[in-house]
Amino acid sequence: MLMPMTPLSPHASPWPYPCWIAHRGAGTLAPENTLAAFRLGADHGFAMFECDVKLSADGEPFLLHDADLARTTNGQGPAGALSWDALSRLDAGSWHGRAYAGEPLLRLEALARWLQALGLMVNLEIKPCPGDEVRTGRIVAERVASLWAASDVKPVLSSFSVAALEAAAAAEPSLPRGLLIDRWQPEAIEEALRLGCGALVVHQAFLNDRRIEAIHAAGIKAVAYTVNDAERAGTLWLAGLDGLITDRVDLFEPQARLGTCPGLNLSLDTLLA
Ligand code: G3P
Ligand code: MG
Repeated sequence: MLMPMTPLSPHASPWPYPCWIAHRGAGTLAPENTLAAFRLGADHGFAMFECDVKLSADGEPFLLHDADLARTTNGQGPAGALSWDALSRLDAGSWHGRAYAGEPLLRLEALARWLQALGLMVNLEIKPCPGDEVRTGRIVAERVASLWAASDVKPVLSSFSVAALEAAAAAEPSLPRGLLIDRWQPEAIEEALRLGCGALVVHQAFLNDRRIEAIHAAGIKAVAYTVNDAERAGTLWLAGLDGLITDRVDLFEPQARLGTCPGLNLSLDTLLA
């Protein structure tokens, strides 16, 4: 069901987020979406993280990319079929290596405590288990509003799922949102505005200066995922990109550039060095 929404004006959407965003905590250098990964990303100077959030069978928001447990835990089968109590006893680190054996799955609530203790920011990708889009969008938005009630800077809620974003917007309209797209679709800009999104988050291969300009002309930000190459990052910053999600927390050095767009204050030589 399409929900009519007031399009966002550029001034209604402050974007107080760092340019550099660590994908799944620390890319592939630690078990994705675990606290160990966030700690490693923060050690590398990242102040903002992307991660994937879905619901347990009993409605607890927790971090996991896949719908199935097999790739990144010692469990099996659909993640959404288990209660949080059962999920919390799984090992989400051994698949990556011995150094992370026993690392647990991470609850949104625990992530919120850790981020707030350190003053760090997050882009929560709502990644519903299949068929659970509306419930996931609503519950994640409600929990975020409550967990970050005392924070000035709220998490950005993003999703490929329009139904999840609609449910999040209906539940907590004031939370910042981003529409994810994995190929270029000109109509996605209109869709992002209809959903009241402050950003369009685009697969990096499909962004260029004209498309970034078109996104900006609509009054919203352009964010790219997942950029793991310095030359590509330099090209996108010079094209006016607002945010870059990367696995390569070991390659880029965001700490000197927090809150600024690197293309504005660094030469291309520096970016490519
Ligand atoms: O949120 C950006 C990116 O994470 C979307 O793709 O599959 O890595 O979750 P995926
Ligand atoms: Mg993701």
